[in-house]
Amino acid sequence: MKNRLVNIGIIGLGTVGSGVARVLLEQGELLKARTTLTFRLKTISELDWIKERNLDLTGVICTSKVEDVLEDPEINIVVETIGGYEPAFSFISRALRNRKHVVTANKALIATRGKELFRIAQENGVDLMFEASVGGGIPIIKSLREGLIANRIESMFGILNGTCNYILTKMHQEGLEFAEALKGAQEKGFAEANPTLDISGGDTAHKLTILASLASNSLVPFDKIYVEGITAISRQDIDFAKSFGFTIKLLAIYRAVKGGLDLRVHPTLVSNSHLLSAVSNELNAIFVQGDFVGSTMFYGPGAGERPTASAIVGDIVDLSRDLMLQEGEKYCNRSISLVEHSDLVPIGEVANRFYLRFLTVDRPGVLSLISGVLAEHGISIASMVQLETQEKDSCIPIVLLTHEASEKAMADALEKIMRFDFVKDDHIRLRIF
Ligand SMILES: NC(=O)c1ccc[n+]([C@@H]2O[C@H](COP(=O)([O-])OP(=O)(O)OC[C@H]3O[C@@H](n4cnc5c(N)ncnc54)[C@H](OP(=O)(O)O)[C@@H]3O)[C@@H](O)[C@H]2O)c1
Repeated sequence: MKNRLVNIGIIGLGTVGSGVARVLLEQGELLKARTTLTFRLKTISELDWIKERNLDLTGVICTSKVEDVLEDPEINIVVETIGGYEPAFSFISRALRNRKHVVTANKALIATRGKELFRIAQENGVDLMFEASVGGGIPIIKSLREGLIANRIESMFGILNGTCNYILTKMHQEGLEFAEALKGAQEKGFAEANPTLDISGGDTAHKLTILASLASNSLVPFDKIYVEGITAISRQDIDFAKSFGFTIKLLAIYRAVKGGLDLRVHPTLVSNSHLLSAVSNELNAIFVQGDFVGSTMFYGPGAGERPTASAIVGDIVDLSRDLMLQEGEKYCNRSISLVEHSDLVPIGEVANRFYLRFLTVDRPGVLSLISGVLAEHGISIASMVQLETQEKDSCIPIVLLTHEASEKAMADALEKIMRFDFVKDDHIRLRIF
């Protein structure tokens, strides 16, 4: 390639796009020294040029016409940082069809429409890279693809959403209720004005889809993953979990088991002796177990302008190295496998230990009726707490930790327990890790 020059175009100069521009403008010398390549931010396409970004864009073409990036034959790599499904999907596919490599942080799009995009990339002999889509600045995708390539991945447990982790940390450390912790997260910029995708577990499921696809070398269907968010967690549950020696975390779970892949996202009681319990605030961590390497943990900032930009520029450099090679020598095809994984273990067949909290009328015999139903379903109790009350006929919480039991048995038992007239609607079932 002429002059070892790589021309880059960015679409969307928001939080992440600005970070990418900043790295390319400020770290040009460092990148050149490390790669002998010159990275030129040629063009940025953005709709809102009024917003202050504290960037000196002298020499960069600033446009609101996306064609200036997508149709410029000089541009080798397109960075998509607008987010969402459309027009991001159309822009990425158009860039790939124009034989430009693409880098994106758009996990929602990769998790739900990755198959179509990777196919277009393959058909056009270019790559679509997405390191920043999971774990922000943590190079987990490159690690799974390269550093851990010799391993079968047996399991992964990840804290992949900074917003949820921040909220749960504040509930643990400051005794806040969920709503107060969410409000604080929004004020500090750790949660969006509309946090639904984060707190429902959807964002974590997008990221798990991507990690699971890489780890299993297959395409995992996003809509088959079992997902629960954190909105039902109360301060009371946090306190009970603490008293038993656990911290509640929203975990993305990947387990390669006999029947296939066990993939889930749900709030989980993590033992305080496990490293994941100490991952606080907006930080992310992914615990990966490989058959040769054993246990590894990846930890760091899961979002934010600078960490996310760091991951994107890592992808840009990898692609640029390929651009310097002759046709046929290229590493190319970094896509996720396009073969769909058909063996996802249904949630009912998964076994877990459980944390159960019921609110019941304080009456003799209540506990033995509940434990009787659990026993009927083969579920045995490991520990129990029942709070005392002085008031006659008032309601009290009962908390039970069980030994391992199947999800199906637990669902059936819960259905029966909830039919007792002394059990109030306010109850929760969480899993223990
Ligand atoms: N923020 C993070 O920490 C983070 C971390 C990891 C991954 N990501 C992912 O990175 C992507 C970008 O996130 P972000 O936080 O940077 O979003 P953002 O701050 O909202 O930035 C998006 C930018 O794109 C612009 N835009 C929208 N439509 C456009 C179009 N048709 N043409 C050109 N520009 C357009 C927006 O302009 P207007 O404001 O005028 O609409 C905005 O400036 C998302 O996929 C997100 O999931 C973000």
